Amino acid sequence: MIVEVKNLTKIFGRTVAVDNLSFTMKDGDILGFVGPNGSGKTTTMNIMATLDEPTSGDVLVDGLSVVDYPDATRAKVGFMPDYLPDQSDISAHEYIDFFARASGFKGRELKRRVREVEDFTLVTPIRNKVLSALSRGMKQRVSLARAIVNDPQLLIMDEPANGLDPRARIEFRSYAKRLAEMGKSILVSSHILADLNEICTGCLIIEKGRLVRKIEGSLKNLDLESVFMELTKGEVQ
Ligand SMILES: Nc1ncnc2c1ncn2[C@@H]1O[C@H](COP(=O)(O)OP(=O)(O)OP(=O)(O)O)[C@@H](O)[C@H]1O
Ligand SMILES: [Mg+2]
Repeated sequence: MIVEVKNLTKIFGRTVAVDNLSFTMKDGDILGFVGPNGSGKTTTMNIMATLDEPTSGDVLVDGLSVVDYPDATRAKVGFMPDYLPDQSDISAHEYIDFFARASGFKGRELKRRVREVEDFTLVTPIRNKVLSALSRGMKQRVSLARAIVNDPQLLIMDEPANGLDPRARIEFRSYAKRLAEMGKSILVSSHILADLNEICTGCLIIEKGRLVRKIEGSLKNLDLESVFMELTKGEVQ
């Protein structure tokens, strides 16, 4: 499956949040998405996840346009937002089960899918706890479970490692790698460049909504921090 971001532009009032951004992704890619605060990462991801509409341009997920076919596209996309689940009075299991039902699972298949995802994300031991009783790291896992429950081909993760301790960050990198090995395409934003160095098969650096550098191939031997500092001025928009 191919994901094509084509001349994507999003304007809020006088702010050009995303400015003619284009890139493509294929199966198994883990593409890092970095840029200073306010450079347009979340806006781009929201549009790719059909949560917002572009001012112009489009995103094609397996040939389907997010503008013309948002429902059909949504079925192929999983989104992990940069905020945590905040419904306080339902359990982790009820939360994941709800989203599995919403994406069309029923009966035995529903049970099997929820169990599988809870096992994969290590939510099983805490599945009966209410969300408000979970630590940040546990909530992040529940958030990942929700994002992958519909078995998406494209997984979008907006700062998934934010606020996690070192062990939980390593855990997150391992989830991303395993999902990519299953053939999924992953777009992951992070301000923790070391996390991206470890797992990404490529990286996009944006500033003021514009692509300033596209790095292809492993980032392992690259000093991403230096490249980032060189290319971005760190101005907050
Ligand atoms: N709903 C909105 N209304 C108006 N302006 C917005 C809205 N959402 C985002 N913006 C503006 O668009 C620009 C890009 O914001 P965005 O949240 O996409 O950046 P980001 O790269 O995700 O930043 P961060 O690293 O801080 O998460 C910013 O100037 C922001 O103020
Ligand atoms: Mg953001």
